[in-house]
Amino acid sequence: MLEGMTDNAPSIQERSTATLSPILGRYYEKAWVRGEGHRLFDSDGRAYLDFANGIAVTSLGHAHPRVNEAIHKQVDELIHVCNGLGHLVPVTRLAEMLVAELPEPLDTVYFGNSGSEVVDGAVKLARRATGRTHIIGFSGAFHGRTYAATSLTSSSLNYRSGYDPLLPDVHIAPFPRAYRDFGGDEEAASAASLDYLERLFAEQLQPSRTAAFIIEPVQGEGGYLPAPASFLRGLRELATRHGILLIADEVQSGYGRSGRMWAFEHADIVPDVVLVAKAIANGMPLAALVAPRELHERWGRGAHGSTYGGNPVSCAAGIAVLEVMHEQGLVANAAERGAELTAGLKALQLEDPRIGDVRGPGLMIGVEMVKDPDKPDIALGSALSEACLERGLLVLTCGAGNVVRWIPPLDVQRSELEEALGIFQESLLATR
Ligand SMILES: Cc1ncc(COP(=O)(O)O)c(C=O)c1O
Repeated sequence: MLEGMTDNAPSIQERSTATLSPILGRYYEKAWVRGEGHRLFDSDGRAYLDFANGIAVTSLGHAHPRVNEAIHKQVDELIHVCNGLGHLVPVTRLAEMLVAELPEPLDTVYFGNSGSEVVDGAVKLARRATGRTHIIGFSGAFHGRTYAATSLTSSSLNYRSGYDPLLPDVHIAPFPRAYRDFGGDEEAASAASLDYLERLFAEQLQPSRTAAFIIEPVQGEGGYLPAPASFLRGLRELATRHGILLIADEVQSGYGRSGRMWAFEHADIVPDVVLVAKAIANGMPLAALVAPRELHERWGRGAHGSTYGGNPVSCAAGIAVLEVMHEQGLVANAAERGAELTAGLKALQLEDPRIGDVRGPGLMIGVEMVKDPDKPDIALGSALSEACLERGLLVLTCGAGNVVRWIPPLDVQRSELEEALGIFQESLLATR
């Protein structure tokens, strides 16, 4: 029982339903009280293998001793001074470490608190720095809940509708969906999406008025869909040709998740702006916008800012995260364990025609559930997630709700993958 509650007191579920806004969607109606390593504990004391990670955030698991120690130490020293008031050691240190993770010329960092916030920041940067207004995003993308981010989000109509007028001069171009639209042919999907952009520029929109493309190198909420490497390369070329900025939203796909530090590395490209959040501080609120110094200078001093962005406690956690990732070789672990998990899921696919597609790099794997024979099976997605929950495994869905997404911690062990695959196999049987 939760602290402070008597037998006949309303449950935490009843209390939060009564008090918290119904705007919040919830995957589970559990009350979560404690996390330790890769297990999350509910109010009945039951442990769950956590492959949801607070939606791709606690990539080192819960209560990581190094991260917690760094947080406690920083809390005792200094919790908050707004970055606008001066210089802070953990903030500068983390910026230096982050830049060291990125290719040149991505050398200058702006810290925010959340993914959405840095998406909005990037749109402002792109407009101010280029003097152009138009921004091109991609269908099925999720960039967050603030206004610019919402305007660029199309993974669900519910995230956009009723909010008009959304940001003007925003275009949504088709994301290359190889499995759904091109029978799995990545090159055909890539060519069609690039062709659309060429036609857009030839027929409707002057490229010289276009400030930026923004893309998730692997779409997250939209269904764990990797952009084909040829598409990212084509987009880079188009951007360079027309002086358009290429913004990579690596909020979900970055930080080792794809088996490389950044998902854009799989295509061998360098974006102009990289957006980071979620896993950067293992659960402390923090986000970063990284771009060349010259772009930040064109953005202009005082043109943007935040009271809490670059909070020293979050940055202290962020430093510990990067240290642990290096010491334990976690990007390589994500690649190796990811290949094993993909192989395990593909083996299950051979036995079950309801698994239409298994895709994604590293530990960012989408399993698309289908019926008749390849329409999205939304009911099955949620039934599987529920069946896994009953058996002690947390896996979320994404896309239309028919894609089971696998986001295990980056330091996941082979034995935990076997446990999870066993539960998923039982859940597939239970939902037949
Ligand atoms: C790719 C991507 N961008 C941006 C966001 C928004 O981040 P936040 O919820 O921290 O505002 C998300 C959140 O899921 C995301 O997946």
